[in-house]
Amino acid sequence: MAEDLNIAKGSKEEQYKALLPQIEGLLTGETDLVANMANVAAALKEQFGWLWIGFYVVKQDELVLGPFQGPVACTRIRKGRGVCGTSWAEAKTLIVPDVEKFPGHIACSSLSRSEIVVPVIKDNEVVAVLDADSAEIDLYDETDKKFLEEIVKLINF
Ligand code: SME
Repeated sequence: MAEDLNIAKGSKEEQYKALLPQIEGLLTGETDLVANMANVAAALKEQFGWLWIGFYVVKQDELVLGPFQGPVACTRIRKGRGVCGTSWAEAKTLIVPDVEKFPGHIACSSLSRSEIVVPVIKDNEVVAVLDADSAEIDLYDETDKKFLEEIVKLINF
């Protein structure tokens, strides 16, 4: 079966709308969590070309690096630390227009300028976060929040 992604053009909303059913297709019939996180990260990277996109998974009292696309990254993040650890602690999506203005931002790549982190919530607990980083300042907005929150709900954690 061909697994090529159809890369959509158009507004950000149009791009997400074209990508969503394709992500659903990639996830259908596959129960392995690592495989599914890997394909979601790859699909978002292919569509949007962000600097870094991937998952950190809650393991005991830390976030541990999961499947991602982009430059190598820090492997463990404490609760409340950086954008990812804050999103975990607060159980909410954080949009950071300028990472240099976020106190405690963890700079995995010096090229990162803006970031969005979406928590994955299962049974009222954060079980992982999806982190996207851009080399452009102020890239992420409410459209990204809406669709990325929808996308993480498609993964059966
Ligand atoms: N910037 C994140 C750390 C993860 S990397 O960007 C991949 C943070 O502040 O939590």
